[in-house]
Amino acid sequence: MKTKTFPSILPLLALGIAALLLALWSGLVRLGWHLPSFAKLTVFHGGLILNGFLGVLIPLERVVALQRRWMILIPCLNGVGWMLWFGSPQIGQALFLLGSLGMIAILGVMFKREPQLHTATLLTGGLSWAMGNALWFFGVPIYGVVLWWLAFLVLTISGERLELNRVLRLSNLERTSFMVIISLIITAAILSIFHLDWGARLSGVGYLSLMIWFVAKDIAFRNLRHPQPLTQFISTALAAGFLWLGIGGLLLIYLGKVTAGVAYDAVLHSIFVGFVGSMIFGHAPIIFPALFGMTARFSPMLYYPLGLLHLSLILRLLGDFVLHEAFRRWGGLFNVIAALVYFGLNIRMLLGKER
Ligand code: HEM
Repeated sequence: MKTKTFPSILPLLALGIAALLLALWSGLVRLGWHLPSFAKLTVFHGGLILNGFLGVLIPLERVVALQRRWMILIPCLNGVGWMLWFGSPQIGQALFLLGSLGMIAILGVMFKREPQLHTATLLTGGLSWAMGNALWFFGVPIYGVVLWWLAFLVLTISGERLELNRVLRLSNLERTSFMVIISLIITAAILSIFHLDWGARLSGVGYLSLMIWFVAKDIAFRNLRHPQPLTQFISTALAAGFLWLGIGGLLLIYLGKVTAGVAYDAVLHSIFVGFVGSMIFGHAPIIFPALFGMTARFSPMLYYPLGLLHLSLILRLLGDFVLHEAFRRWGGLFNVIAALVYFGLNIRMLLGKER
C-alpha cells in the first residue's frame, strides 16, 4: 500500500501506533492493572501519547497534504524521540521539543500561504505544543505543562473544524468571539506558569465557551440526521466530543489546580479521551484512507467502539468521583478496548474486508 508521494509514511505510522499501544499499556498499569511492566513505564504514559503518537500522526497528516519533503523530518524527530526517550529522557525530550518547533515551521508555511482564522488557530496550537515541551524540557513536571498540551490539541482540532466549516461563512461577531475565546485559552495557559490554580480555572472557562461556540456554529450539529451514513457517524462522534470538552471545562472551573490522583484523571481524560479521542474516531474514516491516497471508508460497525468509548469514560469518571476503584479501572480498560477495536475495524476497512 505505497502512496504515490511519500513511500516512507508506513514505517512512521507504525512508529506512531507503537507509541500509542505502549502508552495505553502504561496507562493501564498506572490505573492499577497488574500487567507485565518495566521500571518507570508508568511515567511515560502522558508524554508518549502526546509526542510519540499524536506528535507523529498530526504532522504526518500535514506532510502528506502539503507534499514538501523537508517536512517529513518533523514526525521522524518525534518517532525517533520516543524510542530514545526510554534510554535518555533528556535526549528524548530535546527531540520532542525540536519536533514541536518543526511543527511551527509547517504551520507557518500554511499560514503564509493562507493567512486565515483557521491557519492562525492551528499555528497557535503548534506554539502551545512547543511551549509545553520547552517547559517540560527545562524541568517543569507534567502537571505544570499539561494545560499547554491540552491547548495544543484543542486548538489543533478547532482549527481543523474551522477549516472544514468554511462553507458556513462566519459573521464578524462569530469571528471576534472565536478569537476572544482562543486568546482566553492562551492567556490561561500563560497564567498557569505563575498560578496553576487560576490558570486551570480560566482554561475551564475557555473550553466551556469554545464548546458553546461550536455547538452554535459547527455543521456537525446540523448533520446528526444526515442521510449519508458516514456524515452522520462523523457528526455523532464530533457532537459527543464537543460535549466532553464542555464537561472538561466545567471540571477545570470547579476543581482548579490538579496534580495527581482521581481529580487529575477525571479532568485530563474527559478532554484527552472524551474530546480528543472522539474527534480522532470522527475524523479517522477520512484521514487514514487519505494518508494512503484512498477514498473515505465507512462501516456501521464503527458505532460499537464509539459507544463503548463514551460509556466506559462515563464509568471511569464515575469511579473517579465516587472513589470506586473497580469502576475507574474497568472504565479505563474499556477505553483502551474501544480504541483497539476502532483501529482494528479501520484497518479491516482499508484492506476492504469490512463493509
Ligand atoms: C485510553 C486510555 C487511557 C488510560 C487507561 C489512561 C490512564 C492514565 C492514568 C491512570 C493517568 C494518571 C492519573 C493519576 O495521576 O492518577 C494518566 C495520566 C495522563 N494521561 Fe492518560 N490514559 C488514557 C488515555 C489518555 C489519552 C488518550 C491521553 C492524551 C491524548 C492521555 C494523556 C495523559 C496525560 C498527559 C497524563 C498526565 C501524565 C503525568 O502526569 O505523568 N491519556 N492517564
